[in-house]
Amino acid sequence: MKQYLKVDPWSILEESFDPANHEISESIFSIGNGFMGQRANFEEQYSGPSLQGSYMAGVYYPDKTRVGWWKNGYPEYFAKVLNSTNWIGIGVFVDGVALDLAECQVKDFVRELNMKEGYLSRRFTAVMMDGKELSVEAVRFVSIVRHEVGAIRYAVTPLNFNGELRFAPYLDGDVKNKDSNYEEKFWLEVEKSAGADLSYLTVKTKKLDFHVTSIMAFDVEQDGKRLELTPAFHEQEKFVSAEVAVNASANETVTLFKYVANVTSRDHGLGDLVKAGTEALNSAKQAGFDTLKREQAEAWAKKWEMSDIIIDGDVSAQQAIRFNIFQLNQTYSGEDDRLNIGPKGFTGEKYGGSTYWDTEAYCLPFYLSTAESDIARNLLIYRYKHLEKAKENARKLGFTKGALYPMVTMNGEECHNEWEITFEEIHRNGAIAYAIFNYVNYTGDKAYLGEYGLEVLVEISRFWEQRVNFSQAKGKYVMLGVTGPNEYENNVNNNWYTNRIAVWTMEYALEALGEVKAQDSAHYTALIEKLGLQETETKQWQHIIDNMYYPYAEERGVFLQQDGFLDKELIAVKDLDPKHLPINQNWSWDRILRSCFIKQADVLQGLFFLGDRYDLDTKKRNFDFYEPMTVHESSLSPCVHAILACELGYQEKAYEMYLRTARLDLDNYNNDTEDGCHTTSMAGTWMAIVQGFGGLRVREGELVLRPFIPSHWTSFSFKVMFRGSLLQVNATADSIIVTNESDAPAAIRIYDQSYTVAAKSQVQAQRLEPSALS
Ligand code: BGC
Repeated sequence: MKQYLKVDPWSILEESFDPANHEISESIFSIGNGFMGQRANFEEQYSGPSLQGSYMAGVYYPDKTRVGWWKNGYPEYFAKVLNSTNWIGIGVFVDGVALDLAECQVKDFVRELNMKEGYLSRRFTAVMMDGKELSVEAVRFVSIVRHEVGAIRYAVTPLNFNGELRFAPYLDGDVKNKDSNYEEKFWLEVEKSAGADLSYLTVKTKKLDFHVTSIMAFDVEQDGKRLELTPAFHEQEKFVSAEVAVNASANETVTLFKYVANVTSRDHGLGDLVKAGTEALNSAKQAGFDTLKREQAEAWAKKWEMSDIIIDGDVSAQQAIRFNIFQLNQTYSGEDDRLNIGPKGFTGEKYGGSTYWDTEAYCLPFYLSTAESDIARNLLIYRYKHLEKAKENARKLGFTKGALYPMVTMNGEECHNEWEITFEEIHRNGAIAYAIFNYVNYTGDKAYLGEYGLEVLVEISRFWEQRVNFSQAKGKYVMLGVTGPNEYENNVNNNWYTNRIAVWTMEYALEALGEVKAQDSAHYTALIEKLGLQETETKQWQHIIDNMYYPYAEERGVFLQQDGFLDKELIAVKDLDPKHLPINQNWSWDRILRSCFIKQADVLQGLFFLGDRYDLDTKKRNFDFYEPMTVHESSLSPCVHAILACELGYQEKAYEMYLRTARLDLDNYNNDTEDGCHTTSMAGTWMAIVQGFGGLRVREGELVLRPFIPSHWTSFSFKVMFRGSLLQVNATADSIIVTNESDAPAAIRIYDQSYTVAAKSQVQAQRLEPSALS
């Protein structure tokens, strides 16, 4: 845990420069727009430790798999989000000496991530080795309006000298990934040109032929007046730069504006890249930095209008939730159904920028509630488009029909290479089915089932049908050799969660078949034909549904995480010597597997997902049994526990769990933020407030709210889009006020009372104490 950032409701602020925090800050101060992302690397040279990171969404590299012992069925490659052309770089030279914050004294350093308006700024005074002092102010952003454009304003003022300032804005494609399996560089040069109006560089990946063209142009001003300069150009392999020199007197500011367009072959034909980039660049340059920045602020204001959460009485919590919402909106904008959300977003290389079950299990609710429904829908379409690959994946593992979605993917193919996960962590298939339910239940868009959802549900059910087997000994269906959500157990039999979500999928698939048939029988018949679905199959699903085995501990009244769980020595985490924590850094894998300690919600994940099917007593018994043994060593864990704790009226526990997720990166809670931020768990933090403290659920087509206010807050409010209505929920000391900001009435329930909130009006209910809630 490391707290060095200043608490502020709208900004992340770092008020001094400590190289030891630099890589952490590079992650936290990252900027992105759903199409590209950029770690907070410095524009000028920095020779200290730094993780360079410029990422283009959907541009990845299939790095050849590296494992100690090959197993049949392993994927050939691990997909990696690519560190691509460094487009922010500006060499800065003071009388010929490079400005490098690792090589000079840094004073009055302030770095700000302005979340309200969506930009990153930095100012400092540098004292060079020879005593020359200069102040620098740099502002940059990637535009959420023009998704291929980034802009930088970089201003330098000599303070105690008159001298030459030289700027060399550049594009550098000679970059590498830190996580490259074989120390290989992934980019080849295609073409480049350095010229008076603009310079560009096109690079392509060694495999898959992704092309990225970066085009830059710049202007220089001295004390506000534009200079006409003749640059000197430099070209070397995968590199172009333009260099200009300006003589400046003390206190005279020289400002460089760098405009860049990054365009990729994902969006443009190979022959059109330079043209498309030039157009985007010219239009941005013509608009100018101030206009681009104003557009950015206006666009962010619209995002906040839909997604802000306001917390009164706790600035630190306020900053944290805005940071999480900001990062989520920077990572995924929902305009492109080929894109998804990597666990680290655009803030680092870890997890390869690939798609995990995190998207369906944790991220979907955020996008469902804070944007129009097509944004969340695109996350579902992404998986629909991968259905054929998921079917291939199932065949590869020996199944004759059905689909097994990958645990980790870029293009639908599996690229995780730990056998316990690749082959066994199959519960992910259930999360993909659950997301379809979640979307349809939240939006009411039942047509989705006929258009896309049903095919996915049928293929996933077919997989489960084959993955279970009938145990003669038990007289029930069982599922052997799996890894549940709790990855601190491998190759277990009858993981309750996996058995449960498998059966739930088959139930929902049967329901969806009925729904589609009722909607449009001709379309239903065509779909059945396309799927080749036989009655024997649906009968078999029903048989499995009716005869599935669920491990249960009668005497404790709890579902067993897996067969034999009670044979373990049951110890509470609080009774462990803290020096053992986190166990994943202090214990052997063998010791972890034998222990009772749980990495993240497992049985409780099921009780969260299927919350309407279990009563409070059941949830309470299971929570009381499992939570004390849970080490929460996945960032995805605390949020689910926070939500259940809220439902059970465990106020203190709920808040403790909330705190563990909310400032996870800002306070570097797990000591790993330098690798990147925990983007997918940020959606969990949002859920902890909205579904936890706000108690939001959708039941029988109605939005249900059961808010309680953590004792550390005086009030809080959030907005949700629900079936076309934008609702603001405000929980204060005495009342719950729901304001309908849209033009159509909305049906809601507050606690157990139903209301219709007319358009542009509000309803108010008395706030109940948590003791009255559970
Ligand atoms: C968690 C998984 C998760 C992955 C990526 C792992 O530590 O156990 O549930 O999908 O991280 O976030």
